[in-house]
Amino acid sequence: MDRNASVGVFDSGIGGLTVAREIMRQMPGESIVYFGDTARVPYGSKSQDTVLRYSRQIIRFLMTQKVKAIVIACNTASAYALETVEKEFDIPIIGVIRAGARTAVKATRNKKVGVIGTEGTIKSGIYTEVMNQMRPGLEVTGKPCPLFVPLVEEGLLHDSVTDEIASRYLSELKSRFVDTLVLGCTHYPLIRSTLRRLMGEDVVLVNPAYETAIELKSLLEEKGLVCDIERTPEEKYHFYVSDLAEKFTAFATSILPSEVRETKKINIEEY
Ligand code: DGL
Repeated sequence: MDRNASVGVFDSGIGGLTVAREIMRQMPGESIVYFGDTARVPYGSKSQDTVLRYSRQIIRFLMTQKVKAIVIACNTASAYALETVEKEFDIPIIGVIRAGARTAVKATRNKKVGVIGTEGTIKSGIYTEVMNQMRPGLEVTGKPCPLFVPLVEEGLLHDSVTDEIASRYLSELKSRFVDTLVLGCTHYPLIRSTLRRLMGEDVVLVNPAYETAIELKSLLEEKGLVCDIERTPEEKYHFYVSDLAEKFTAFATSILPSEVRETKKINIEEY
């Protein structure tokens, strides 16, 4: 495996950019090939079989780009596909769930943890399962928040509509006195300030994107795969989508540390 190859990062669309952003911050020397499945988003309301099929196609595409490791920067795809694809493909693959779960387990003082995510992620029960393996006896409450993804995609990051919906979603978690809340969907770090205000200062908000970047760093170090050459942002970062490349470019530029000049559209069904 070439240590100077890129890391492949994928998501159902734009949300995984919150993970790519953390990788860029924590490992500025690494190159990234990002794929956003903008033609088939959302994954959160699809079946496991479908999300698994999509994930396999994307991994095959990323492997054509000669990546050295893959990050599934999507909670739903991590919940539904990681366990299967890590056995099927001969390349290191990590998801976002274990990293987020590990932090939540360490952070909670009263052993009451809330998890918010898509319907798929919450229905899979994966966060509860993983956290209970790590620390038995935790009370984990999952709450699907399906309207958050479209609100974020509409740019309503600081808006009274988002406030109103968030306060309804979060009321059950508040009534259970969770002291730690996992933002179990890639889009949710973008409405962190709203979630922070509604949950209160004492609740720890866990962003799995941050922890996933730390996990990737240790993985690359452990396998001797840390990049040792310098490149410019244009050389380092490459973006692909399955639809609406220009819209993706604009959004990516608004949240990433450097301007995204180009996004290429590919036909992912060919892989
Ligand atoms: N990226 C997805 C996740 O983290 C959210 C968007 C979708 O439903 O596809 O679960």
